[in-house]
Amino acid sequence: MRPFGFEMPAGECQTDPYDSHIERRLSSLSGQFFNQGEYENLLRNGDPVVYEVRSMERPEQEGELSFGLSIVHPGRVGDEYYMTKGHFHQVRETAEIYHCLRGIGALLMESGDGDWALEEFRPGRVVYVVPGWAHRSINLSEQEDLVTFFVYPSHAGHDYATIESRGFRKLVLHEAGGYKLADNPRWSRAGAECHV
Ligand code: F6R
Ligand code: ZN
Repeated sequence: MRPFGFEMPAGECQTDPYDSHIERRLSSLSGQFFNQGEYENLLRNGDPVVYEVRSMERPEQEGELSFGLSIVHPGRVGDEYYMTKGHFHQVRETAEIYHCLRGIGALLMESGDGDWALEEFRPGRVVYVVPGWAHRSINLSEQEDLVTFFVYPSHAGHDYATIESRGFRKLVLHEAGGYKLADNPRWSRAGAECHV
């Protein structure tokens, strides 16, 4: 492959290099939303796409960088905003950069021993995910997509199982005029540490 460049508009682009497109529907986030009753209610009325990822596939080897767009649609399950599954990198010593292109949201992050951080997304903002921290994108807008550009080392791999089993330590919930953080009752420090 030769060096290349491409446009990165926040909207649709005909000339982007992405060769992979995945859609994550509500059914693929089973057990992740706090309000299980509301989750099941919503699923009975269909299975909406919660987020999409467009990326360029690179060989999963050190030296390569994988990159693309993460697009989280607006919506809520009860008070909880639409969000990505979230993951640790399988190779814990790998970082990631997110650059917000469009929308309003946040990146919820958590270290292996249960430290946590929330960084807001708005257009132009960059978030650096340090090695060893799990990350989940959350769309805090009720109307607009949250579009971020991400870059990470291609050999990082993805560990979804840790988050699937206990979620993140914090929930990000809607409240009038903004959002609030709440403790996730499913989370336990023991569950966090056994996966470090
Ligand atoms: C890659 C990365 C992003 C996410 C994307 C979807 O390491 O962090 O490309 O993969 O935002 O989120 P997940 O992978 O958690 O479903
Ligand atoms: Zn990642």
